[in-house]
Amino acid sequence: MSIHALRGMNDLMPPDSQIWQEVERKARELFGRYRYEEIRTPILEDMALFTRSIGDTTNIVEKEMYVFQDRNAKWVAMRPEGTASVVRAYVEHKLYADDPIARFYYMGPMYRYERPQKGRFRQFYQMGVEVFGIASARLDAEVINMLDLYLKELGLTGYELEINSLGCPMCRPNFLRAFFDHLRKNEERLCGDCKRRMERNALRILDCKEPECQKVAEEGPSIQDYLDENCEKDFDIVLETLGLLGSTYKVNPKIVRGLDYYLKTTFEFTSSALGAQNAIAGGGRYDGLIRLLGGPNIPGFGFAIGIERLVDILKAQRAAAEPERTGVFLAAMGDKAYSEALKIAGQLRKEAVPVDLDYEGKSLKAQMRRADKIGSRYVVFLGPDELSKKTVGVRDMVSGGQEDVPLAGLMQRIKKT
Ligand code: HAM
Repeated sequence: MSIHALRGMNDLMPPDSQIWQEVERKARELFGRYRYEEIRTPILEDMALFTRSIGDTTNIVEKEMYVFQDRNAKWVAMRPEGTASVVRAYVEHKLYADDPIARFYYMGPMYRYERPQKGRFRQFYQMGVEVFGIASARLDAEVINMLDLYLKELGLTGYELEINSLGCPMCRPNFLRAFFDHLRKNEERLCGDCKRRMERNALRILDCKEPECQKVAEEGPSIQDYLDENCEKDFDIVLETLGLLGSTYKVNPKIVRGLDYYLKTTFEFTSSALGAQNAIAGGGRYDGLIRLLGGPNIPGFGFAIGIERLVDILKAQRAAAEPERTGVFLAAMGDKAYSEALKIAGQLRKEAVPVDLDYEGKSLKAQMRRADKIGSRYVVFLGPDELSKKTVGVRDMVSGGQEDVPLAGLMQRIKKT
């Protein structure tokens, strides 16, 4: 009997792994320019870390967490997200002692026991950033703009930034009271979960997936109408700065996010190319979380991108375009030429040129077919004739042109394009 991967858990294979590498490389490079540094935290954590920070009435904690007792009967959880772990590490290692300002980025697998569907998996990868120690609304805008620039640098199109303010512990209770009254009046329309959550955490009804619950939420009061002066001023600064930095946005008062730790700025990047699971990335401000997890009163802000979803759209966009040809295929004929070809391959690779070749003495025609199939940009011919003349034949697979090039000038010819 054959063994299969678990439901909702994917293998990453070529050619997708190539886009993943590009996506990760570009993130490291861009986030590095803003002075973010990498942090890696364990996949397994004390279960209490997530119940406390994400909130025990959220979908993630109530229904989706992979939790189990380890061999010592301790309750542990496979991380459903990265923020709680990064905050835990920051607090545990007292990274604030010297300087409360810290910028981290991370990438790695997260686990949520959701019903798998397009764009929704049980193991999925996130790439995220967290900034600690800066309470300014300008920071919010800069981080959001950085994410926007990142997506643009990857060539992503057709996405949207939706932004909201969730208010703060001073003004949110006013909204919650009004919202609760509205829910009370419509209680019989709500699903069982929402009825139950209404008393303890009314905000969660805003991210319920049941259409009727969504309708009830839609008809209710808007959080935007309940922001106090300070939250309103900060939200204006966020929007103004985003405009200044060239990021377009749409204010959407229903962006509340599925995790309890947020206040003030919250946002999502969405794409209609994704279908029902349309969020590529999401994040916001979480000023109370560091204290909640035992640290000092230090503010926090961050986001996470879903890598599978990002790669999915990039793939679809690129499939529509002509695939780019890269690298060299060395087509050798005869034993001597094979040995020489291996040497040349080594030299080209040393200069960062991707090289492929045949090892089995296949016919020239078969070698050409392979070069075409794997998308080589150049085919370099090397037979007894070329060997004696110390030249190689170079065919450009894009233009179709072919020329003889002295062996010593091969690198220069390849690098010309
Ligand atoms: P989140 O919105 O739960 O936020 O997840 C961020 C992104 O991860 C989503 O926008 C989506 O692209 C991807 N994602 C979430 N669940 C799945 C799934 N089951 N399958 C595939 N992709 C998924 C957070 O996790 C916060 N920690 C973000 C953050 C960082 N806030 C502040 N700092």
